[in-house]
Amino acid sequence: MNVLVTGAAGYIGAHILRALQGAGHRPVGYDNLVKGHRAAVGDAELIEADVTDAEAMTAALADNEIDLVIHLAAFAEAGESCRRPDKYFHNNTVAGLTLLDAMREAGVGKLVFSSTAAVYGEPESIPIRETDRLAPINPYGASKLCVEYMLQSYAAAFDMGFVSLRYFNVAGADPAGDIGEDHRPETHLIPLLLQVALGKREQFSILGDDYDTPDGTCIRDFIHVCDLADAHLLAAEAIEPGRAKAYNLGSGEGFSVKQVLQTCREVTGAEIPADIAERRPGDPPRLVASCEKARDELGWRPSFPDLRTMADHAWNWHSKHPEGY
Ligand SMILES: NC(=O)c1ccc[n+]([C@@H]2O[C@H](COP(=O)([O-])OP(=O)(O)OC[C@H]3O[C@@H](n4cnc5c(N)ncnc54)[C@H](O)[C@@H]3O)[C@@H](O)[C@H]2O)c1
Repeated sequence: MNVLVTGAAGYIGAHILRALQGAGHRPVGYDNLVKGHRAAVGDAELIEADVTDAEAMTAALADNEIDLVIHLAAFAEAGESCRRPDKYFHNNTVAGLTLLDAMREAGVGKLVFSSTAAVYGEPESIPIRETDRLAPINPYGASKLCVEYMLQSYAAAFDMGFVSLRYFNVAGADPAGDIGEDHRPETHLIPLLLQVALGKREQFSILGDDYDTPDGTCIRDFIHVCDLADAHLLAAEAIEPGRAKAYNLGSGEGFSVKQVLQTCREVTGAEIPADIAERRPGDPPRLVASCEKARDELGWRPSFPDLRTMADHAWNWHSKHPEGY
């Protein structure tokens, strides 16, 4: 397949490019490089353009005879989205609509969409199932849920086929150590801890230790970025015209912030000093996915389900590339 990957120069996009190449497909990266890194794309093709540019997008789809789109390009910081909802609805929701219309124009009918656990908001029960209430508590989650709703309507009306993958916390790096997580600013737990281990930050702040969890810190579900990349290839096979499906992707197991801190101390051999800071508004105590649907319907089986391997692979990248790309 010829596969257009938006957000290809980002953390997850770079891993999806490698997975597509490994499976014998031809990925065409599409990224405006506002957040991504050209070096992350490796030897794959890259079109440097914005998803909101309808003309550039239609041309990219038509000129490259694209069979499938994997749409990752987005802004993804929940905190920032509360201060700048305009940025998020433009870049995530409006851009999603532009992409769908360009796909219609170019006659491309299949898309895998990067959704997020943030579409659930505060979960009613754990583990979270795909049929649970969708009630995002920040504009980031809302901007992604709007796209999921558009996919449902476009599937029904235009006979297009979609899969939304609701990622939980993505972690780790390609074991070869050439690509990894380099967000600027970094807001994700494991890279923040590893930056302390590298001496790039003085200490780590645990945001609240008075939650109703065994050690008082928030519990999150982590998925290895390579397992996530593989899931996109399986999702592509599961696309059916006229349908918009959604799957959770996590490990189904929760780890507290203190457990993740301890794992990173063990993996790096560094002390990683940590203090306790205020809770961050809108952080649910527990977010753990039920991944049964992805297992049953996509046949997805993670190769690296344990947290220690994710931290180990992330450390491999960070220690080889202390300054990032
Ligand atoms: N990393 C996680 O833990 C996580 C969890 C849930 C969902 N997601 C979703 O996965 C996707 C990728 O996440 P990531 O961590 O790789 O982020 P990232 O910031 O590393 O990558 C996003 C890429 O999209 C590009 N981009 C943004 N807006 C664009 C636009 N308008 N036109 C062209 N390119 C644009 C950026 O330059 C960047 O390279 C996002 O949609 C995010 O919401 C990530």
